[in-house]
Amino acid sequence: MAAACSYISHCRILVVLIVAAVHVFCCGASDEGKDVYIVRMGSLLEGEYSTASLHLSVLQEVLGESSSATGSLVRSYTRSFNAFAARLSDEEHQIIASRKEVVSVFPSRTLQLQTTRSWDFMGLTETVKRNPTVESDVIVGVIDSGIWPESESFRDSGYGPPPAKWKGTCAGGSNFTCNNKLIGARVYTGTSARDNEGHGTHTASTAAGIKVSGASFFGLAEGKARGGVPSARIAAYKVCSEDGCRDQDILAAFDDAIADGVDLITISVGGVSRAFENDSVAIGSFHAMEKGILTVHAAGNKGPSSSTVGSVAPWLLSTAASSTDRKIIDKVVLGNGKTLTGNGINSFTQIKGKKFPLIHGEDASTTSCANPILARACGVGCLNGSLVKGKIVVCDSADRWGEAFRAGAVGSITLDNIETMQDFNYVLPLPTSTLTAHRHHVVKSYLNSTEKPQGNILKSEVMRNSAAPVVASFSSRGPNLIAPDILKPDIAAPGIEILAAYSPVSPPSGNPKDKRSANYSIMSGTSMSCPHVAAWPMNATKQVEYEYGEGEFAFGAGHVNPVKAIDPGLVYETSKDDYIKMLCSMQLSFFGTCPSEIKGSVKDLNYPSMQVLVEAGKSFTVEFPRTVTNVGLANSTFVSKVITDHSQMNVSVKPSILSFKSLKEKKSFVVIVSGKALPSPKRVSAALVWSDRTHIVRSPIVVYTSFL
Ligand SMILES: *[C@@H]1O[C@H](CO)[C@@H](O)[C@H](O)[C@H]1NC(C)=O
Ligand SMILES: *[C@@H]1O[C@H](CO)[C@@H](O)[C@H](O)[C@H]1NC(C)=O
Ligand SMILES: *[C@@H]1O[C@H](CO)[C@@H](O)[C@H](O)[C@H]1NC(C)=O
Ligand SMILES: *[C@@H]1O[C@H](CO)[C@@H](O)[C@H](O)[C@H]1NC(C)=O
Ligand SMILES: *[C@@H]1O[C@H](CO)[C@@H](O)[C@H](O)[C@H]1NC(C)=O
Ligand SMILES: *[C@@H]1O[C@H](CO)[C@@H](O)[C@H](O)[C@H]1NC(C)=O
Ligand SMILES: *[C@@H]1O[C@H](CO)[C@@H](O)[C@H](O)[C@H]1NC(C)=O
Ligand SMILES: *[C@@H]1O[C@H](CO)[C@@H](O)[C@H](O)[C@H]1NC(C)=O
Repeated sequence: MAAACSYISHCRILVVLIVAAVHVFCCGASDEGKDVYIVRMGSLLEGEYSTASLHLSVLQEVLGESSSATGSLVRSYTRSFNAFAARLSDEEHQIIASRKEVVSVFPSRTLQLQTTRSWDFMGLTETVKRNPTVESDVIVGVIDSGIWPESESFRDSGYGPPPAKWKGTCAGGSNFTCNNKLIGARVYTGTSARDNEGHGTHTASTAAGIKVSGASFFGLAEGKARGGVPSARIAAYKVCSEDGCRDQDILAAFDDAIADGVDLITISVGGVSRAFENDSVAIGSFHAMEKGILTVHAAGNKGPSSSTVGSVAPWLLSTAASSTDRKIIDKVVLGNGKTLTGNGINSFTQIKGKKFPLIHGEDASTTSCANPILARACGVGCLNGSLVKGKIVVCDSADRWGEAFRAGAVGSITLDNIETMQDFNYVLPLPTSTLTAHRHHVVKSYLNSTEKPQGNILKSEVMRNSAAPVVASFSSRGPNLIAPDILKPDIAAPGIEILAAYSPVSPPSGNPKDKRSANYSIMSGTSMSCPHVAAWPMNATKQVEYEYGEGEFAFGAGHVNPVKAIDPGLVYETSKDDYIKMLCSMQLSFFGTCPSEIKGSVKDLNYPSMQVLVEAGKSFTVEFPRTVTNVGLANSTFVSKVITDHSQMNVSVKPSILSFKSLKEKKSFVVIVSGKALPSPKRVSAALVWSDRTHIVRSPIVVYTSFL
């Protein structure tokens, strides 16, 4: 399912990049068989220069006389943390890892990149009282595929100069100009921060694009495009190209963004979950957290299977993708006058009343396609171009429009089978409507009923989706394989069919043969939900102010509610020391020194959700110590309430009432969760709600027995 989402990699021809201009990448025969490793060192030394020279001297000692350290060094991270990336042989990597000043070493991998109505849907309409003066001081760092600086969404009329705290620069390459809205740009891959993919422009404008009236994708989903914090400033850090996003570049972007003075970071890049010590996003965001900068991260597009969530560190806010209250449909009109409603984003306008010949894949197959099932499904290489040219092809499968496009059909009608659960559409290079099995059967009966079947696929329309919000099938699910007692993803936000600014040089379908150019396009993915959450400043503190629903592994604490999040009442604050304590309880010491006596466990982290993996077949009693900080009214009393089905678990809260006398006052309590033996696999859940009658602060409680 992941392939169906608007990941950057989708259907791209690999373009060989000119990387040499940015950094020394390859230097002759001695580097053969060497890989890039990231070497993490202790604290930063005084001055960037001394940290950089330390990197070279450590590297030179390991390499010996035979090769040059400057030739092997790929990057030095010296501004916000102390680490470097270098090309090393297996042997050199072992030697370097054993040195005492080295905290950890891990290989650099390549990750993949993983919106108008959506803000209104969440209640953050234009009439909500905002504080534009404060918000225009907020700087959102977007680590992605770059940005299209000329987009209307990033115009700066009415903006003053960047806030004084800004220490960044506009280094987007030649022919790249910043302004008072897009205040900074840096490049880590290629030579320009210009976005040739569309993804980075889309996420940046979803987070903080200005209000643009009449934005649409060729007239589709027309409305007002605007980011979550329209008055915030944007700094773009380009780490992704057509072939993905490298760890060594992601870390460089974090190193700079933190030092540049951004207030929050949004990053929609990921893959499968990795141990914290080997995960560039976890490491970069840890250093951001140290400076009070929150990183919002896409959970991943590997759902709906469990344990697929790729964003697992508790100091990240990990976002699942959900639907909005509008969906995009695509109607099929048959020669007999019947009209069938399907799924599809079809921006192509057909001449009104025009009909094209319809042909079933089976009747258009090449002689070499011997398998009739493949022929019916329009399998790869199965459609004969001379038989489908000028026709609409009917395929008995969901995702074979690509073969129809390759063979030169004018459109395709595909089948939405139950397995694929198509709950979203993506932009395709040809008109395509995906029909449910029943409607698809109507088309096939019609094909049988006439000698010359004809039909058309109409331009898409927008409909109301009363079922929203529902988590997208592609959105990655928990539980968390790396820290099983931390609930991930944290939260769900709109990530289906989001209209936002796009790169006009990137084909909207991602297919190089698609010759359309769009300033605004529609994309789906947890990439799109991520900037929705990033877009209002949460001040590095996780807040629980959500609506409740089913399936915490899909949506974490629930659907994001930016209106309530502005005034949450209570917050769960977590310090760097709390995270280090948690890591030490996992026997991980690479983010800080562990005390000699380690107390507590991961579930004790002051997290706004409570989750524990218990042994199947045994009754359980688990305590979750928590501390909340009053940010509501100075003089307030919060009363706890537990929402639970007593047949599944019992929950008690001690004390059950918290009385505050002042703002910023902290109060601690313990949540005791108990229950009878559970089978495997099994997930049971409850919720703790604190309320002072003005604010409702809800935390999910999840007990489970298996990763399955
Ligand atoms: C700068 O980039 C824009 C957008 O790609 C392009 O239209 C323009 O021609 C470029 N100008 C120069 C001088 O290269
Ligand atoms: C991190 O990566 C290294 C190198 O690939 C590997 O040896 C190590 O086992 C990984 N650590 C964890 C905890 O997976
Ligand atoms: C495609 O169809 C044409 C016309 O029926 C036929 O001549 C040709 O051999 C077919 N090509 C293939 C590869 O099947
Ligand atoms: C159409 O005709 C074919 C061959 O005659 C038959 O196998 C198929 O079941 C028919 N399909 C429908 C939907 O009537
Ligand atoms: C896209 O934006 C450019 C300016 O950046 C403008 O010249 C062009 O007309 C726009 N295209 C459409 C289709 O609106
Ligand atoms: C975050 O909180 C700090 C201290 O509570 C405050 O000074 C700062 O203005 C806040 N930042 C934002 C963006 O609200
Ligand atoms: C705080 O609230 C209590 C109970 O509502 C009330 O009796 C008390 O006077 C309040 N104190 C202040 C300082 O407002
Ligand atoms: C919860 O407590 C009640 C009352 O003591 C008891 O009847 C019930 O079995 C308990 N439920 C579980 C799941 O242990």
